[in-house]
Amino acid sequence: MSEIDKELSAQGQPNDFRIVVLASGRGSNLNALMQRQRPDNYQIAAVLSDKPQAPALALARAAGIPAMAIDWPDRIRGEADLRRMLRQLQPDLIVLAGFMRILSEPTVTPWIGRMINIHPSLLPLYPGLHTHQRALADNRKEHGASVHFVTPVLDGGPIISQTRLHIRPDDTAESLAERLLPQEHRLLATTVAWLRSGAVQLTDSQVMYNGTPLQKPLVVP
Ligand code: GRF
Repeated sequence: MSEIDKELSAQGQPNDFRIVVLASGRGSNLNALMQRQRPDNYQIAAVLSDKPQAPALALARAAGIPAMAIDWPDRIRGEADLRRMLRQLQPDLIVLAGFMRILSEPTVTPWIGRMINIHPSLLPLYPGLHTHQRALADNRKEHGASVHFVTPVLDGGPIISQTRLHIRPDDTAESLAERLLPQEHRLLATTVAWLRSGAVQLTDSQVMYNGTPLQKPLVVP
């Protein structure tokens, strides 16, 4: 049982909204969610990674959150292990926060509407890798990040929310990534809070916001 769990149970308020975070790297987006567990009334039930050495796992363990490496010798076996863990954990929401594997249909389909991803571009622009370089190469004036429901199409599921920033003439891929990161953290935490409260839902492939079909992504500054 994690510290937050113990504390909530001690207060007689066991938290019943359980989130599993999947992360491959440093885990700064995970950290942003960890900070919001109590105010936004959810519990990070586990952190899973395809990389046993991922700093995200260490970050979770240090906070008393169960953190496990997925056995990932290849895609077939990796996804089978991931599916097994998710079936056991039965989360209310799965958050891909810097998870660098493409998930296939059998893994994604059972969780449609309950699995989201943060992607560092203004989707549908630049799915896949190297988004900052590609925005610069195209002389874009604006860049940003998106949170979307996960479907079997890479970075292609229904978009929930976005954050935008202006590209400066002297920006590099590194400076863009650095300036975007704190905005990503706010974007992800805010979007998770909307999902937790039920304000955002996926109904028949349509993102609903407060019961109304969302016409364009919600904007988080
Ligand atoms: C973020 O830029 C996220 O958008 C991308 O990978 C990065 C993960 O960073 N998918 P962190 O591991 O959360 O610090």
